Amino acid sequence: MKTTNRDNQDFESLDMDTESFRKIGHDVIDMIAEYFETIRERKVVPQSNSREVENVFKEDLPQTGQSPESILKEWSDKVIPNASHLGSPRYFAFVNGSGTMMSVFAAALAVAVNMNSGGWKAGPAAAEIERRTISWIAELIGYPSDCGGLFLGGGAVANFTALLTALKNTADYNITEEGLQSEHRKGKHTLYMSDHEGHVSILRSVDVINLGRSSIRRVPSNDDFTMNTNELVRMIDEDLASDNIPFCVVAQVGSINVGVADDLETIAKICSERNIWFHADGACGAVGAMLPELDHLYKGLDRADSVTLDPHKWLYIPYECGCLLVKDPGKLKKTFSITASYLQGTLPTDYKGLDYFDYGPQMSRGFNAAKVWMSLKHYGKEGYQKLLRQNILCAKHLHELVIRSEDFTAMHDPELFIYSFRFIPKELTQKTDEPKVKAALDRMNQRITDEIVSSGFAFIMTTKIRGEVVIRLSICSHRTTLKDIEQVFEKLRQIGDLVYAQERDIIFS
Ligand SMILES: Cc1ncc(COP(=O)(O)O)c(C=O)c1O
Repeated sequence: MKTTNRDNQDFESLDMDTESFRKIGHDVIDMIAEYFETIRERKVVPQSNSREVENVFKEDLPQTGQSPESILKEWSDKVIPNASHLGSPRYFAFVNGSGTMMSVFAAALAVAVNMNSGGWKAGPAAAEIERRTISWIAELIGYPSDCGGLFLGGGAVANFTALLTALKNTADYNITEEGLQSEHRKGKHTLYMSDHEGHVSILRSVDVINLGRSSIRRVPSNDDFTMNTNELVRMIDEDLASDNIPFCVVAQVGSINVGVADDLETIAKICSERNIWFHADGACGAVGAMLPELDHLYKGLDRADSVTLDPHKWLYIPYECGCLLVKDPGKLKKTFSITASYLQGTLPTDYKGLDYFDYGPQMSRGFNAAKVWMSLKHYGKEGYQKLLRQNILCAKHLHELVIRSEDFTAMHDPELFIYSFRFIPKELTQKTDEPKVKAALDRMNQRITDEIVSSGFAFIMTTKIRGEVVIRLSICSHRTTLKDIEQVFEKLRQIGDLVYAQERDIIFS
């Protein structure tokens, strides 16, 4: 659009005219619909190597503009062939949500209106929707729905936000003014998480706060990979008797390798008796609390001072969307509240609600809540319960296939959607302690996963369980079916046979 001012200077927004926008928009929707129509048939990861991907996008800074049509063509020609398809039903790597269709609309509409969710005045509807959606999520998992909370970039940021809140609300000196270096600090702040399943993002969190990684005490685990709470008590008491200041226990709620939940009720009791912050890292699994049949796993979650829960994992929201719930909103505000004359404004308002810049580390923020709000409205609680149950059924079915097979061994009995198991050919089952066999098993498990990824059929990764390489699937795509699981297991079995045929001579030589 062009306007001319009194000096005959042309001013242009460079916006396209709305007729063109409408036409191109229809084309974009066709592209997206075609993408969803073909997602099941696509190779899950691209076949190009990193140098090839780099070369595809090598180009000089554009000096003059190009047409939207040609940019969209580049999307089809360059981006899609070099994308990993998290929305595929056979994408089982990391813990990556598959992306709801309603979120595609939500994201487009939200960026069109472009509210800044950092402050109420810059986005009244966005703030209200975020507040409403946070209370829905709390209600969904049986957490007090008058809690505070906000959407964040992901589980790592949510964990960092929780730990800083824990630290600031448990320190007995003015930590905001004096910082960690305060001369009033009586000892070393320490926190606790399980040695096997505690997530690496807690290390990142203490790095960001600069507490030092030695502030984390790794609590020994039970045989089922949950935290040993007797050991937890022993360690806390040991620290209380010395110069340390126990300030937080981080419990896992759906852990990264095997999807277990720690004993939340016992941890809640231990923390409340000692005035220690109880943080539940439910990035992967907290939303499972919406299933009444899993009540036994989530008892005590409502007593956590804070809960990390990632909509971009098991609520299938596309990236990015993490979330933190904090029981007492005042504690978030105490941690993050900040004032400046340019943030306050002067217009009288009856608004007494949230300015999210007062409740978290970001000031300006996108409107992530829109994706969750619309997806929750689209599926409803019942829809989500159905999808979660499907994923759990897939994990349990895979477990059945594993225990029925002679060449694979279960590492645990899955309760949620994460499942780890190991290729151990039948004739090696009695030899797994032999160093040569141990090394070969690690190599074979890695090769099996590498080969299925290279084939493009599925994206699966390994992890280590008690030091041994195992195959791990995170089944959190709302598109995965039992048939997908059967096909993937059959492929793993076939690759396993081939890999073992090659390794056998080395093992028995
Ligand atoms: C238990 C747990 N906490 C935190 C995170 C970090 O989440 P994000 O990758 O969204 O930052 C993860 C990621 O998988 C996780 O499994």
